[in-house]
Amino acid sequence: MSKLKNDRFLRALLREPVDQTPVWIMRQAGRYLPEYRATREKAGDFMTLCQTPDLACEVTLQPLERFDLDAAILFSDILTIPDAMGLGLTFTTGEGPQFSRPVRTAADIDKLGMPDMEDDLGYVMDAVRTIRRELDGSVPLIGFSGSPWTLATYMIEGSGSKDFAKSKGMLFDQPALLHKLLDLLADTVTEYLNAQIKAGAQTAMIFDTWGGVLTPRDYREFSLRYMQRIIDGLIREHDGRRVPVVLFTKGGGCWLEDIAATGTDAAGLDWTTEIGAARKSVGDKIALQGNMDPSILYASPERIRQEVQTILDDFGPGSGHVFNLGHGIHQHVNPDNVKVLVDAVHELSRPLHK
Ligand code: CP3
Repeated sequence: MSKLKNDRFLRALLREPVDQTPVWIMRQAGRYLPEYRATREKAGDFMTLCQTPDLACEVTLQPLERFDLDAAILFSDILTIPDAMGLGLTFTTGEGPQFSRPVRTAADIDKLGMPDMEDDLGYVMDAVRTIRRELDGSVPLIGFSGSPWTLATYMIEGSGSKDFAKSKGMLFDQPALLHKLLDLLADTVTEYLNAQIKAGAQTAMIFDTWGGVLTPRDYREFSLRYMQRIIDGLIREHDGRRVPVVLFTKGGGCWLEDIAATGTDAAGLDWTTEIGAARKSVGDKIALQGNMDPSILYASPERIRQEVQTILDDFGPGSGHVFNLGHGIHQHVNPDNVKVLVDAVHELSRPLHK
């Protein structure tokens, strides 16, 4: 087993005692950091940044140099899988992701195959190996993937969407076709996360960013069921240590009992759920990660500290909480406010872990 100097993040996910509440931030390596913008400029474009392991490693480590974070997250994107499936991904500034060959028909889906984890996605595994080497046991590394449903929405729409017209259209009128796509994606995500774990990822997080746009029934049938299959197929122990799984359905706060029943170690929470209430419903089964409103980082340092205190108190004493935002950090946030947040979590949580 490789040694970790700071394992508070892994311990909290397993609800083992910690000295203070661990914290990391979704999209902690991103455009709010001037050094990220400089490296992205050097790479030329976003996908080249993801596909160049040394640069992906460089940006992964940037937030850790500034802030006392308890985990690193692989710098990559959830859309690497559809890109590797040949859908032709580009990111245009201000417009988000675009696919030149979206998936709309049975013939489109029949043409898709599972990408090879080393030939097509080896750059992700190389980034994981490089980052682990550079972290040198300081904090654990989080690997991640999109959920099958969330990936399917981008593949079917061909870009981000507000109303999910085409993906929900397929769900309602051609459910068998959508199931075929989700089935392939579930197998692919399982292989992808297992490859990351073998390369050195110490936690696996599933981003179900768009699960919350579904009805409860459709969520269970088209999103949760496939995440369950992934969880059943994941490597749960590697290098002598448990590899915790975190399942994050944005907007999924009212389905926490179903989420806990998948066997995940933790659930991510957005800011529309009270973390104390969430702990009462599932806190004896899983850990919780979240859930500060990302917009609080635009407020004053005093107001940020107050919000941290409120969330820590709402969760209450004891382990099982990983502090985070309820979604990714906004690009116009002042990095100094992130330091206020991270330091406040550590300082204010100590009395809760006596
Ligand atoms: O958290 C981290 O620091 C790790 C890196 C990470 C990125 N994307 C980097 C990124 C992670 C975990 C993701 C996941 C991701 N990507 C999700 C799920 C989580 C979520 O935020 O809901 C989704 C839906 C995507 C797809 C995606 N990637 C979109 C919609 C965009 C465009 C967003 C925009 O504001 O333009 C991206 C690009 C992206 N991924 C950026 C970063 C830092 C910004 C790219 C840039 O440098 O311009």
